[in-house]
Amino acid sequence: MQSGYLCPDYRLEDNMYIDAELKQNILDEAPVAEPARQYFFVEECRKIIALKEAEKGRKLTCCINTFGCQMNAKDSEKLLGIMKEIGYEPVETEEADFVLYNTCTVREHANVRVYGRLGVLKRAKDANPDMIIAMCGCMMQEPEVVEKIRKSYRHVNIIFGTHNVYKLAELLFMYLCEEKNQTEILQGTTEIVEDLPSVRKYDFKCGVNIMYGCNNFCSYCIVPYVRGRERSRKKEDIIAECKKLVSEGVVEIMLLGQNVNSYEYDFPGLLADVANIEGLERVRFMTSHPKDLSDELIAVIRDNPKICRHIHLPLQSGSSRILKIMNRRYDKEKYLELAEKIRREIPGVAITTDIIVGFPGETEEDFLETMDVVRKVHYDSAFTFIYSKRTGTPAAKMPEQISKEVADDRFNRLLSLCQEESKLQTEKYVGEVQEVLVEGINPKDPSLVTGRLSNYSVVHFPGCKQLIGKIVKVRLDEARGFYYIGSMVD
Ligand code: SAH
Ligand code: SF4
Ligand code: F3S
Repeated sequence: MQSGYLCPDYRLEDNMYIDAELKQNILDEAPVAEPARQYFFVEECRKIIALKEAEKGRKLTCCINTFGCQMNAKDSEKLLGIMKEIGYEPVETEEADFVLYNTCTVREHANVRVYGRLGVLKRAKDANPDMIIAMCGCMMQEPEVVEKIRKSYRHVNIIFGTHNVYKLAELLFMYLCEEKNQTEILQGTTEIVEDLPSVRKYDFKCGVNIMYGCNNFCSYCIVPYVRGRERSRKKEDIIAECKKLVSEGVVEIMLLGQNVNSYEYDFPGLLADVANIEGLERVRFMTSHPKDLSDELIAVIRDNPKICRHIHLPLQSGSSRILKIMNRRYDKEKYLELAEKIRREIPGVAITTDIIVGFPGETEEDFLETMDVVRKVHYDSAFTFIYSKRTGTPAAKMPEQISKEVADDRFNRLLSLCQEESKLQTEKYVGEVQEVLVEGINPKDPSLVTGRLSNYSVVHFPGCKQLIGKIVKVRLDEARGFYYIGSMVD
């Protein structure tokens, strides 16, 4: 172990990299405004990490494990960007010097998985005591979760939430100085901090946030509590980010928001403007709430071939009675009308959905209404969930919670119906030639590549890695449930 001064700024003594005085000087010097403040801490962390590298004689590695939705995936790209700037080398394995879990708490199951893996990480940390473990994301916005981790999982060194993801460098700096566990959770924010480094998972496609948070308060859902109130980004900033991505080679952009229809500055207009960016081939979006999907939006999609033929339209329940208690603000009839209008106006469009069974008080009749909607809409694909009680939401306090047996039974019946429907939908296009954006080599069969149609269906076909990121014409030879086997045509 070396000691004494290694560089003019930092010293390495008793495993401490910075003494209290130097730390205070650095904190006094840090700019107050963001993102300048974070760039400052990235630089400070970088110096310390360089010392650690010299000490170990190798690069330090980092691994980010992402749970949950596209919002989290996008946040993880930003977090990885910061880590890389600091000098960490991204790796896929959790046997890394820095492991970060970006968590989801939308259903109980997601939490259980995280706790299980934290136990495994404990053993990895016992083998490598220098390892830093950090946790962020939606689970961390729940006070009882943070309390449990601080008490029972003390090997977790840094905890932060969804409102301060951009502060990773600052929190890491504090940890590196003090070697004391750091926790910072904000209850909300009106700030949107952008323009930090980001590492994209794919070179050719990218998600772009158009808004953060959610104001809808569906009675079962925890997202508004852990992601805070809606904040829309300015149209100019979104367009500028999209243009930059296109100039870097991105051909498909997905606009992200919990409900893009409540984007403050005119979503259909934004979508049309993004589609007009020269060089961009495809634009999609996720998610649109059925309560306020406008005719104008349908017209913009219809009239613009670059906008993908896919609308994710979460149903949640087909029973008007349950929808009311869920606070979804549409009923069965309104939903069916909307789905029919979408199918009529946009030929070839795929409609996909999310459905919950076992919501408190759901009767067999209510459930049959859900089945009825699935039969009528002919979903191309559906994500089906068993209702999960989330602390703090109104539904958690509702009487008549449904038993596991009943919920499981409804889930299985719904799942097989959805699978039948999606098989029929997929079969509709067999024999057609359609454009596929190739996303990667098929992990199960390296002679195949895998990509997606405009309607988001997956296609596997013989090809090589040179095709990745390209849009090619593929004949859909065979439908296998919810995906295709195809062949390239030239
Ligand atoms: N903003 C999106 C949904 C984001 S959460 C929308 O409104 O469509 C993704 C999905 O998780 C939801 O559509 C819902 O089907 C499911 N979900 C949310 N809370 C749940 C809960 N408590 N139990 C089971 N599923 C839930
Ligand atoms: Fe949750 Fe409803 Fe908001 Fe979607 S719209 S994130 S389901 S509260
Ligand atoms: Fe999960 Fe948070 Fe997304 S709770 S679904 S990661 S917004």
